[in-house]
Amino acid sequence: MKVAVIGAAGGIGQALALLLKNRLPAGSDLALYDIAPVTPGVAVDLSHIPTPVTIKGYCGEDPTPALEGADVVLISAGVARKPGMDRSDLFNVNAGIVRSLSEKIADVCPKALIGIITNPVNTTVAIAAEVLKAKGVYDKKRLFGITTLDIIRSETFVAELKGKDPSNVCVPVIGGHSGVTILPLLSQVDGVEFTEEEVAALTPRIQNAGTEVVEAKAGGGSATLSMGQAACRFGLALVRAAQGEKDVVECAYVEGDGKYARFFAQPIRLGKDGVEEILDHGPLSAFEQEALDSMLDTLRKDITLGEEFVK
Ligand SMILES: NC(=O)c1ccc[n+]([C@@H]2O[C@H](COP(=O)([O-])OP(=O)(O)OC[C@H]3O[C@@H](n4cnc5c(N)ncnc54)[C@H](O)[C@@H]3O)[C@@H](O)[C@H]2O)c1
Repeated sequence: MKVAVIGAAGGIGQALALLLKNRLPAGSDLALYDIAPVTPGVAVDLSHIPTPVTIKGYCGEDPTPALEGADVVLISAGVARKPGMDRSDLFNVNAGIVRSLSEKIADVCPKALIGIITNPVNTTVAIAAEVLKAKGVYDKKRLFGITTLDIIRSETFVAELKGKDPSNVCVPVIGGHSGVTILPLLSQVDGVEFTEEEVAALTPRIQNAGTEVVEAKAGGGSATLSMGQAACRFGLALVRAAQGEKDVVECAYVEGDGKYARFFAQPIRLGKDGVEEILDHGPLSAFEQEALDSMLDTLRKDITLGEEFVK
């Protein structure tokens, strides 16, 4: 397996590269790419960690050598939020970055499984899809918006609130990846009951957890280390499924049946070729149904923005 991390010199990229160097299966290749000149040095630094994963770093204008032969491409290239910004403020810069990287992927490794971290994910995934489509290589089973950070945050906060071991807590999160479009299904957490007040407090905390980090970092960026962990979890799930492991299930933002919106985060079973099956999100509580109904306008607008940007 070759995994390429794009944006690898950034806060997320370096954390993700460190985790992947330690956790990819033996014999994997890890390629790091970023426009920043430090990137080959980041790879040399990581290459001194004694794991059976080879690593190479590339910088400059052309990501081609990092993408050649890549089975999985994880993209965190772009700018991150500062206090007072929401994810849509990143659109102007990041939309162009995702467009040009998607064009390169279409030319160099069109069969790769692509995971997009760059915000606003609700929109950047639509941009990547439209670029790949225009190049005639779009396969909706192979393109993912990575929403795993919403899941690990939900698991952590639920475990804290209920005195559980977070590794035993599983919270599906559906919808999208910004504000009200993030919908944790607290009614489906096994073995845990919530009061209405708890749901009403915990849901917005999960939705705004990114802002909690942005404000705490006071101008120093947004979530990088927890996002590195989340992207590593999702990237490894793609790799495990691609290598034939069965029953690999994660939530991610993908093009599904279009029941709610063209792209929607939901539980999916992963297989050798990406999405193997879109799983039903199960019954919703009245609170969750209302939250779902009221997010859809926002989510659909975010998607249209991406589609129109490419057209
Ligand atoms: N999906 C999520 O849950 C989630 C969570 C947190 C942050 N993010 C997003 O991830 C992105 C990266 O965040 P960060 O904190 O790592 O930012 P960062 O500024 O630390 O790193 C971004 C990196 O991208 C590089 N870059 C810029 N343009 C590039 C290009 N064309 N090709 C290759 N590399 C390029 C920069 O040189 C930089 O090293 C942001 O858009 C942020 O909003 C997503």
